[in-house]
Amino acid sequence: MKVCSKNDIENGKMKKFIFNNYSYIVFNVENAFFATSAECTHIGTDLSTGTIDGYTLTCPSHAAHFNIRSGQATIPADEPLETFKVTEQDGFLYVDLKYHENTNDDFFKDL
Ligand code: FES
Repeated sequence: MKVCSKNDIENGKMKKFIFNNYSYIVFNVENAFFATSAECTHIGTDLSTGTIDGYTLTCPSHAAHFNIRSGQATIPADEPLETFKVTEQDGFLYVDLKYHENTNDDFFKDL
């Protein structure tokens, strides 16, 4: 699914998107792009309000760390984030949201 221009997310930054009520985040780490689910697996904080340092995303609520490449979590989160493949084509980013895209509802919203 086409998400945005690669220029919309600066190096070291992240941006949240919603597709069919499913929230996910796209990250730019030194112009390599990654995507994960956006809700902390501890108690659901919006991780787009957290901080990113390299490949480590930190939840603003209780400081769980997530590896944005693997989704791997540290306590108090005990479940990984979902991770999605991001590809570039003609300056645009495409995210494979897997089964989240299997719907007839084409609602798409950029926050
Ligand atoms: S809600 Fe993220 S660590 Fe608690």
